[in-house]
Amino acid sequence: MSGKMEMAKNAPVLEIRNLSVGFNGARGQAIAVNDVSLTVPAGKVVGIVGESGSGKTTLISAALGLISRQTAEITGEVKFEGRDILNMSERELRAIRGTDIAMIFQDPMTALNPSMSIGTLMTDIQYRDQGVSMAEKRRKAVEMLRRVGIPDPESRLTQYPHEFSGGMRQRICIAMALLGQPRLLIADEPTTALDVTMEAQIIHLLRKLQQDFHTSIVFVSHNLGIIAEICDYVAVLYSGCLVEQGEVDHIFHNPQHPYTKALLACDPALLPEHVTDFPAIPGEVPGPFDRPAGCIFQARCNLAADICRQVSPPLRPVEADHAAACHMAKGV
Ligand SMILES: Nc1ncnc2c1ncn2[C@@H]1O[C@H](COP(=O)(O)OP(=O)(O)OP(=O)(O)O)[C@@H](O)[C@H]1O
Ligand code: SF4
Ligand SMILES: [Mg+2]
Repeated sequence: MSGKMEMAKNAPVLEIRNLSVGFNGARGQAIAVNDVSLTVPAGKVVGIVGESGSGKTTLISAALGLISRQTAEITGEVKFEGRDILNMSERELRAIRGTDIAMIFQDPMTALNPSMSIGTLMTDIQYRDQGVSMAEKRRKAVEMLRRVGIPDPESRLTQYPHEFSGGMRQRICIAMALLGQPRLLIADEPTTALDVTMEAQIIHLLRKLQQDFHTSIVFVSHNLGIIAEICDYVAVLYSGCLVEQGEVDHIFHNPQHPYTKALLACDPALLPEHVTDFPAIPGEVPGPFDRPAGCIFQARCNLAADICRQVSPPLRPVEADHAAACHMAKGV
């Protein structure tokens, strides 16, 4: 995923290079994303993981041109299929979003207009298909609802979003996203609001659809256990910085950064079933104005030494397709 690493055998769909985002505010500029580089290869699933406030949403929002330059300074480069996202007009961006790139969010209600029936929502979203009849659009809507697991979809087209459960609403959002046949699907914590069973079903569904449609996916989560189920590559974000990235097996079986190790140790999905008292990583993610000199993880790290307080560790390769930003990382 890093530019220098030979991770992407397939041509990349999304390339983020040295992206930084600083929000302008009364206290000065709050750097929410700090020099992040990430590649999404075609047909692959890339997970972005980190605790709340680590910059996940800011990163993907900036990469999609969703953050106004009036409120934030954005530097670096973002290319979608080779096209320069950060310098596109609003009109060009709108043409890409919803078709070539689709998004699903934590709360499906944000994407579903509560005053419209599912049938209307799902035919409206096909507005770009001008030559297609309404009957054909309805047929496509029904077919897609069936594929995402909505039982008896014909009879449910007249129903409104509030008549569905949270999990069903997320399935409808996924169906709407896929109707545009996107080449990239960005999912920002799409299962966080769901219970564990529903979460597992949605993950399974996304993986299946990804295989059927060959869509590339960026899957954002604060939960590494979820990432393991669906992702090919993982990027670990901490206080706006990438601290580790690599193939999913490397991240799970040979984690190098103490933060990644802590995330794994505290992940509810990875703990034995009888454990009910879930551990948490002591301390908090430093905010944009609270980052120390040297390593940003030092206040929570048992291994912190003098060098960690003085020198910021660069992201460096520890094995093929695996990099970590820690002075103590040894690799294999
Ligand atoms: N519009 C904004 N203006 C100023 N600061 C912002 C803005 N949006 C986000 N931030 C700050 O940027 C940092 C990263 O926030 P972000 O929402 O990207 O984190 P996240 O990893 O998505 O968290 P969560 O898991 O809670 O969704 C935080 O310190 C947040 O306060
Ligand atoms: S560089 Fe030092 S403080 Fe930072 S994660 Fe590695 S050991 Fe811990
Ligand atoms: Mg977020």
